[in-house]
Amino acid sequence: MHTELSNVHQPSSAVVTGAAKGIGAAIARKLVQDGFHVVAVDLDAIALDTLVASLNGNATSVVGDVGDWSTHERAADAAEAYAPLRGWVNNAGIDIVGGAHEVTPEHIERGLRVLQFGSMYGTAIAVRRMLPGQAGSIVNISSIQGIKAFPRYFTYQAAKAAVAMISKGVAVDYGPCGIRCNAVLPGSIETPMLDQTLPRGMSREDAIREQGKLAPLGRIGQPEEIANVVAFLLSDASSFINGAEIVADGGASARCFAYPTPAEIAPFTRS
Ligand SMILES: NC(=O)c1ccc[n+]([C@@H]2O[C@H](COP(=O)([O-])OP(=O)(O)OC[C@H]3O[C@@H](n4cnc5c(N)ncnc54)[C@H](O)[C@@H]3O)[C@@H](O)[C@H]2O)c1
Repeated sequence: MHTELSNVHQPSSAVVTGAAKGIGAAIARKLVQDGFHVVAVDLDAIALDTLVASLNGNATSVVGDVGDWSTHERAADAAEAYAPLRGWVNNAGIDIVGGAHEVTPEHIERGLRVLQFGSMYGTAIAVRRMLPGQAGSIVNISSIQGIKAFPRYFTYQAAKAAVAMISKGVAVDYGPCGIRCNAVLPGSIETPMLDQTLPRGMSREDAIREQGKLAPLGRIGQPEEIANVVAFLLSDASSFINGAEIVADGGASARCFAYPTPAEIAPFTRS
């Protein structure tokens, strides 16, 4: 019988990419809370230093580009220097806008390099390092844009669909070896990335409220709400979840369009 993901009470390490800000920073904080030593990877050395300094010696920084294979090797080495590597989260991403009529080969390559190759490199290295211990959980941060099309996201959504499929393939190949792999598909989450995509011509507060209407819950999500899902997937509590696409979007992708609340339900809605 293979050993499943070790109990986090045993010393364990986890790598989180794109950890300096937004969802990645929330994941790093939550995993430290749950007992992991976190190796936080990012291009932004200054923001990374701030995050790691706030984690009281329970995190190590690795500055690097996830589009480089060597960044992931360095992250894995740093994690294994602390404790057995049991968790890996490929989260780093960029927002890259453009429809098929406007993209260039450079645009496509830049997007795929971070969003798809970054996750593939990280996953491949995580698998190799976890195989000897026959235990581990890998999470790839996809997006609801990996399953639903938004206007002018030709490159981003192709990469996000790939990220979900990478996770399924790894789940099938390495489940027998005690390694689980899942994808998390966030909807709109309040991070620096979201700020770049908010509707123009109104205050940030109004734009956030407007964006929130995409979800039946009537609001955008917080990074901690994605971090909680990731922490669950890295814990024994999710020991039978493998190859799943877990949507965390307030219900946005469950419907076709934002229709008005039916009259018989309207009196019960929160203002
Ligand atoms: N915010 C959302 O609404 C939302 C929705 C769905 C999916 N996502 C996905 O969640 C993940 C995190 O997004 P976020 O909103 O926190 O973004 P963010 O821009 O707020 O943070 C992303 C982090 O990744 C880092 N990064 C970017 N390129 C990198 C590279 N090549 N190498 C290393 N680090 C790099 C950035 O420096 C930054 O710290 C991304 O994969 C994103 O596509 C976000």
